[in-house]
Amino acid sequence: IKADIGLIGLGVMGQNLALNIARNGYAVSVFNKTEEKTREFIDEKVKEEKIYPFYTLKDFVESLKKPRKIILIIKAGTPVDDVINELLSYLEKGDLIVDSGNSYFMDTSRRLKVLKEKNILFLGMGISGGEYGALYGPSLMPGGTKEAYELIKDVLLKVAAKTEDGPCCTYVGNDSAGHFVKMVHNGIEYAIMQLIAEVYDFMRKILNMTNEEIGDVFERWNQEELDSYLMEISYKIMRYKDKETGGFLLDYILDKAEQKGTGKWTAQTSLDLGVPTPTLNLAVEARVISHYKEERKTLSKLYSKEKNTISVNKEEMIEHLKKTLLFGVFMSFSQGLWLIYEASKQYNYGVDLSEILRIWKGGCIIRAKILDFLRDIIRENEEYANLLHSDKSIEFIKDKLNSVYQVLEIGRNYRIPLMIINSAVDYYFALTEENLPANLIQAQRDFFGAHTYERVDKEGIFHTEWEK
Ligand code: 6PG
Repeated sequence: IKADIGLIGLGVMGQNLALNIARNGYAVSVFNKTEEKTREFIDEKVKEEKIYPFYTLKDFVESLKKPRKIILIIKAGTPVDDVINELLSYLEKGDLIVDSGNSYFMDTSRRLKVLKEKNILFLGMGISGGEYGALYGPSLMPGGTKEAYELIKDVLLKVAAKTEDGPCCTYVGNDSAGHFVKMVHNGIEYAIMQLIAEVYDFMRKILNMTNEEIGDVFERWNQEELDSYLMEISYKIMRYKDKETGGFLLDYILDKAEQKGTGKWTAQTSLDLGVPTPTLNLAVEARVISHYKEERKTLSKLYSKEKNTISVNKEEMIEHLKKTLLFGVFMSFSQGLWLIYEASKQYNYGVDLSEILRIWKGGCIIRAKILDFLRDIIRENEEYANLLHSDKSIEFIKDKLNSVYQVLEIGRNYRIPLMIINSAVDYYFALTEENLPANLIQAQRDFFGAHTYERVDKEGIFHTEWEK
């Protein structure tokens, strides 16, 4: 036998992707560093599918039709370099490696260069959708050369999730475009998760709602404009009972959020490229702060927070929270898309933002109804990377602002942290403000370091001896 596709890495994601590819009619050779995993997979999960196990990399490579197409779905970082290096002894000119882990985009650029010299084709492909997505249809974000994409395009289009706008896979762009876009996908993912978490906090602490009540509201929202995967899992989480205690599992989960790096890279990259993404960045900060559980516990005793006096109308507030969430989600996407746009210019990715929104409509973690609306905005305002320019956006934001103010005011009054909701509104304030106090920053810089400044009334670069 000669297999159509090779897949390396049989974690759950890898197993499911192999099953998905095989279900779509392709013969798949699989390999995993530890043999046992491969055997387990073949024994327990593989039935009729054309999936063939190999126990040495050499045999694995030799089992593939030429030009060989090998998908890596392994841990990002050095493991990817190690496997690529090993593969190089067996691959031939024109063979293709697709790295579908959450690799750092700079690593992908580096690997592309090295492999190009060796005439090996390479794609850095973002894949989103978790275990279920991998099995039944993920969102795929491949980037690299068009030539490499063409080689494996048919397979990718078949295994990807489908929506009324086609398969959730497109050629994202040159170089590391695929992994860049996946990174920003995750930055937005962190932000939406944190937005929902802040709304949940408001509901439980201020509106005194039970998990079941919150779940009901989330479920209702999920049938409206907020229809999205993260809303859906959140209402299911709200209702989930712990098998051991019989209570709500959520109430037993420690409030320390973990992370594997993609959200942090988004924040770091936004600073490197000089694109404002405060809401995405603060979503990472919120996870970092959550980590200091002991610290928070101690400090919470040192700083008792005085009780508020404002009474709130629960039903009205729920409506305000819904609009606030929509506002936050809009700002998160808006910031993320702007970041992709600037990166695309800087790195010559050639990304089509409307296509990105299209392939995020299905399969991925941030799939949401609002993407159709955002796509309309992007398509109607092609000259602007910033969503805020559109008339549709103006109308959308105007409709939400009063609610956001209400939520923030009450939140302050009850002393609960709403870090990223605040960031979203401050982003909006700052970006729509003609006069910022940055004139003072410039004056200070010039005062202490002769860093110079520009003037509003004439051209040129100026410096003042401030104490003369
Ligand atoms: C996806 C996800 C996935 C990511 C997890 C965990 O699109 O399927 O983004 O790729 O690894 O969400 O990320 P953190 O551990 O950083 O929260």
